[in-house]
Amino acid sequence: VVDIGKLYAKADVFTFDPGYTSTGSCESKITFIDGEKGELLYRGYPIEQLAEKSHYLEVCYLLLYGELPTKAQMDDFETRVTKHTMLHEQMRNFYSGFRRDAHPMAVVCGVVGAMSAFYHDSTDINDPWQREVATIRLIAKLPTIVAWAFKYAAGQPFVYPRNDLNYAENFLHMCFSVPAEEYKVDPILAKAMDRIFTLHADHEQNASTSTVRLAGSSGANPFACIAAGVACLWGPAHGGANQACLEMLREIGTVDQIPTYIKKAKDKNDPFRLMGFGHRVYKNFDPRAKVMKESADEVLGLLGIENNETLAVAKELEKIALEDEYFVEKKLYPNVDFYSGIILEAMGFPTSMFTPIFALSRTVGWISQWKEMMEESSKIGRPRQLYTGAAFRDYVDVAGR
Ligand code: ACO
Repeated sequence: VVDIGKLYAKADVFTFDPGYTSTGSCESKITFIDGEKGELLYRGYPIEQLAEKSHYLEVCYLLLYGELPTKAQMDDFETRVTKHTMLHEQMRNFYSGFRRDAHPMAVVCGVVGAMSAFYHDSTDINDPWQREVATIRLIAKLPTIVAWAFKYAAGQPFVYPRNDLNYAENFLHMCFSVPAEEYKVDPILAKAMDRIFTLHADHEQNASTSTVRLAGSSGANPFACIAAGVACLWGPAHGGANQACLEMLREIGTVDQIPTYIKKAKDKNDPFRLMGFGHRVYKNFDPRAKVMKESADEVLGLLGIENNETLAVAKELEKIALEDEYFVEKKLYPNVDFYSGIILEAMGFPTSMFTPIFALSRTVGWISQWKEMMEESSKIGRPRQLYTGAAFRDYVDVAGR
């Protein structure tokens, strides 16, 4: 590994790497990806084992502190998180500033950013205790923030968190309970929800995480940094792909339409891409997609909707794409977003909620990376550019133009 920055700084030269395809921006001990093998490790533990044997809050502990917790450490962490699940009552008013048909990602981004205004006592980045409080607050409050964005759009009253439920159960409760009827959380659905959180928890230096680190490098407070991450995640090439993928499956509509869309995806002159396919790092199957696929089968089986048309299109599309020369040659496999939308739709979430759920899951990854950066000395992130504009020229008065 060569520190190009140190090597080139004095000579005032720099590498040109649009999209940062071969630029490492930091050292990190949190998440490892081997794109060729299709391997993903959180602190050394494979994602498949964590998805099967662990649970989201334990994974949060692992990502944040580096080791799996003992029973006492886990109990203490869980108590600290549940203590902070409520949102400041004044933050309810913040929601009513949004149009009722606002995209919930816009609402989540705004409310997370507004946490800097409501929780001043945890914005001093130089105080390790305040950094820790901000971390716990974010992990604890994101389910409440996201569930309330859902309720706001649905025109239903906000449901307060229930601390006797686990993290995933409580989220489903806040989304689906209504005043007349408490939602009965099915343990299989809660497990599937927990698995979605776990599989999305971190993914090293993707666009949103790099955004959080870049914002953090300027000394911005943690809530502002996470709001920046939420904003970046929204795009369809990143977290917004889960919404875009399900909408694409619906647009395809029936299995007989698939060849038309495959043709469009292969056409260089058509901007259309098969959403939920391809990944910058994985050039083999996305290991999260494998687990998600099993989970999708389980959830749809439980809900008795295996014969759903969208699912039939998804399965056939996957089959055709995996055999197609174009997709094989470019190593375009289904990614995690291809299956997560199917599960979330089956659970009763509208497509607009898919990306906010991704944001809630990824918050721990963002804050772990931010924490790691804060614990080390780091420079402000400041990429260079290749200027291609006009050369020096003198200003011309308006009369002379
Ligand atoms: N459908 C059709 N063709 C594709 C697709 C796709 N989904 N993805 C990539 N390609 C093609 C490109 O056209 C390009 O072809 P070319 O070499 O002939 O020009 C080649 O594959 C490489 O594509 P790039 O865009 O250079 O690859 P990059 O690594 O920059 O992009 C990305 C990765 C953004 C994920 C891309 O595959 C994509 O847009 N996929 C669809 C959106 C999506 O599912 N995003 C979710 C990513 S996972 C996540 O964020 C959780």
